Amino acid sequence: MELVFATNNPNKLEEIQALIGNQFKVLGLADIGFIEEIPETGDTLEENALQKSEYIFKKYKVNCFADDTGLEVDALNGEPGVYSARYAGEDKNADANMNMVLNKLGDSSNRKARFRTVISLIIKGKEFQFEGSVDGEILRVKTGGDGFGYDPIFKPTGFANSFAEMNLQEKNEISHRGRAMVKLIEFLKDNYA
Ligand code: IMP
Repeated sequence: MELVFATNNPNKLEEIQALIGNQFKVLGLADIGFIEEIPETGDTLEENALQKSEYIFKKYKVNCFADDTGLEVDALNGEPGVYSARYAGEDKNADANMNMVLNKLGDSSNRKARFRTVISLIIKGKEFQFEGSVDGEILRVKTGGDGFGYDPIFKPTGFANSFAEMNLQEKNEISHRGRAMVKLIEFLKDNYA
């Protein structure tokens, strides 16, 4: 079975194809000739994920899924949340985004946070959602050089290192996106393999 993942991120495509096995073939947006940006105007991760999967489903009538992720910081009332990519501005600068979180938090002792991913799957015309999250804390200084986004300031609970100090495999095993992907894959294998 073929499924379109509504992303242009080659790393995400590679990650899911490695996990999903060869009963399913995952195509990216470039593979179906879609090169525009999909609108993301929802107020929640759930709305945005659905908006993206529905957009591709309506246009191409294919089985497809989309993901949306946010960093939710308790002491900032869940910010940056759905606005994680553009927290410090439209240029989606990771360093500026991290500075914004660190500045807003100041020396607050409540540094609890989580990454949360929602995947919206539309298969045979019906929608299903899957969620994955990882709890952790916001470090006081950026630590580590790997990863992307907010990785240098996020340390998952029970681990000594930030996400940016882990290799990709270590991170994927415990990450929000990895956990949501595993739920999606189990569902697909149970129902459509
Ligand atoms: P997206 O929905 O996957 O595009 O994620 C939205 C934003 O959340 C990204 O632009 C990053 O700033 C942040 N983000 C998502 N996943 C991660 C991650 O695994 N580590 C760090 N930041 C992330």
